[in-house]
Amino acid sequence: MTSDPKDQDLIDTRVGRDVSFFDLYSIDQLNDADIKLIFDVARRFRHYKTHKFALNKGCSQMCAFFEASTRTLASFDLAAKNLSMDTNNISSSGASTKKGESYLDTAETIDAYNLKTIVIRSKEAGVSEFLSRHVNAAVINAGDGWHEHPTQALLDALTMLDHFGGDNLQGRIVTIVGDIMHSRVFGSLVRILKKLKATIRVSAPETFLPPFVENFGLTTHYNVDEALSGADVVYALRVQEERGAHGFIPTLREYSKMYGISRKRLDLANKNAILMHPGPVRRDIDIHSALVVVDEQSHILRQVENGMAVRKTLLWLLCNRIDGKVKEIKRK
Ligand code: CP
Repeated sequence: MTSDPKDQDLIDTRVGRDVSFFDLYSIDQLNDADIKLIFDVARRFRHYKTHKFALNKGCSQMCAFFEASTRTLASFDLAAKNLSMDTNNISSSGASTKKGESYLDTAETIDAYNLKTIVIRSKEAGVSEFLSRHVNAAVINAGDGWHEHPTQALLDALTMLDHFGGDNLQGRIVTIVGDIMHSRVFGSLVRILKKLKATIRVSAPETFLPPFVENFGLTTHYNVDEALSGADVVYALRVQEERGAHGFIPTLREYSKMYGISRKRLDLANKNAILMHPGPVRRDIDIHSALVVVDEQSHILRQVENGMAVRKTLLWLLCNRIDGKVKEIKRK
């Protein structure tokens, strides 16, 4: 029980429900009930966006980010503070990994501070899943190499469902355009869209399409206009130069001409379609500048707002289980 009615509303929204996982490193871990619980709770957190909750008082969090971030790091840090957690952040430039310490030794070291959550961003795939087997804290993947970025997919799906209504995206066409090959955002987005029954199209130069991408049950289109025709969601991805993406296309200017989302291209989608991008946007490469923030079809800042709500939700659910289950460390 709490004396705060807004904290109590969150507790009532949860009504005895827990997520089925202890760490979050892949969208594959989530079942339908997990997704429903996360979205129900996130909507309530969003409703009380200026309220300071006491729900995680006494819990501590460390964000260990070995790659640059604005949105994910800021929102995990602010979300934790909003829940009354103690927080600390380490980055690749300031961490002892610079002196040769391994990820595992780093994780075991910070876990000794009796943390409830460790949020990890790494250049390499699989780091958060590996470390989750060695620490007591709940490990949350904030992006691992080219692999996955599950909290981004959750906030993206929430943004889509809020726009279209309903519990799934059956009958909705989501067209994803850009650097699919290097994108962990794509890795998680495609998994959640499949769970929500969306029809998925991807459009990119051949060199930006991973081999066997069709195995996800989607269609590929080299012609972006064809892919955008009748779409409900236009989801643009950033050309990831930090992963060598410029070596896969002739020039950024040519890429933008062929695949950049312009007003004319957005008009090929449905009238009620929304434009999304995970950020950071490369203006006039991924999306023409005028569409980025102010266009009424752009949901990019709504995605950012939903990121805060989703991250608060995960921190609260993972730090306060009510099913009595405890995480077992399974080193393998
Ligand atoms: N979308 C995303 O992960 O953005 P940041 O790199 O700014 O965290």
